[in-house]
Amino acid sequence: PQPLPPPIKDTSAKLVDDAAHPFKPLRPGDIRGPCPGLNTLASHGYIPRHGVVTPAEIITAVQEGFNMGRQFASFLAYSAFILDGNHLTNLMSIGRNTTGCGSLTPGINTHGTFEGDASITREDIYLGNNFLFNEGLFNELIHSANQVGEGYVTVEAAALNRRRRIDDSVARNPVFSFETPRFLGAIAESGFALAMFVHNQTEDSTKSLALNDAWSFFNLHMYPEGFYRRQGPFEFPHVKALTYKLVDMVGRRPGHNEGEYNYVVNPEDPATVNLTAQLYPDPPFILRKAIKANLATYYEALGDPTCEQYFPYGYE
Ligand code: HEM
Ligand code: MG
Repeated sequence: PQPLPPPIKDTSAKLVDDAAHPFKPLRPGDIRGPCPGLNTLASHGYIPRHGVVTPAEIITAVQEGFNMGRQFASFLAYSAFILDGNHLTNLMSIGRNTTGCGSLTPGINTHGTFEGDASITREDIYLGNNFLFNEGLFNELIHSANQVGEGYVTVEAAALNRRRRIDDSVARNPVFSFETPRFLGAIAESGFALAMFVHNQTEDSTKSLALNDAWSFFNLHMYPEGFYRRQGPFEFPHVKALTYKLVDMVGRRPGHNEGEYNYVVNPEDPATVNLTAQLYPDPPFILRKAIKANLATYYEALGDPTCEQYFPYGYE
């Protein structure tokens, strides 16, 4: 376990496609995954290019490279790390599981923890590959942009695409699962593209995403040439505002498919699920100690004292 890294000092918009961070093509063994943000950071060396990282490296890199807010970045990185990381080595892969560093390093491809259904450019795991870029799905984004955004991913186009991705999974994936947290995560991620993939984006994310730039991030994992990160951090208040705006525009509820293609809205959602204790019902001493320390850091990362801290392994 390690503490949260300090915030970056300068949070202004600036060139991040800079000389110190050149894009480099993949070498054999390099790992990329379902997150175009983390993939891009790896391909430009903001995090290790092989794609095996610590949560602290992610937290610093998403601030540096995209101006994601430090508090929200910590929450997101630990949401992934608690479920998908190796608590003993403090490592996580940004894609598939790997044994490249000695012991097993699990990754964020793992379905049903953080990765989930109805992604923008990745297929549902039941239907295909859940981490590789899918050009057919990208064409759907183009289609929405052309229909309501005059060729740009506006907030309207992002919402339309998000709704279509959900409806597509309802229609094609008999085991479609879209409960919270995936419900909010998927909608938030549509917002991430608007908030952080737009050159020199404003604080309120008012500028639209050009399709060429979307292609560059989603498929090539590369900054568009001369790319500036957004103006000011994308922090919890910004995330909530944009996500809930999109939730309203999308007009779908959390739920799952039952009996083939029948979408059932979950009336109890958002339910609280204790995934960590399910994953590690009875961990041995050293592992238990590490998980407890990481859960404490996770609680600190949330930064919300009104939310009660949970201790699945006791208090001492
Ligand atoms: C998707 C993790 C930061 C943009 C994902 C997914 C994971 C993930 C596991 C796959 C979810 C799914 O679609 O099934 C993380 C973690 C981060 C992080 C742990 C650490 C802070 C970022 C940043 C950006 C970003 C900084 C943008 C600059 C996206 C987008 C998607 C996504 C747009 C949706 C991709 C798609 O649906 O095709 N992320 N992410 N993420 N992430 Fe990240
Ligand atoms: Mg997915």
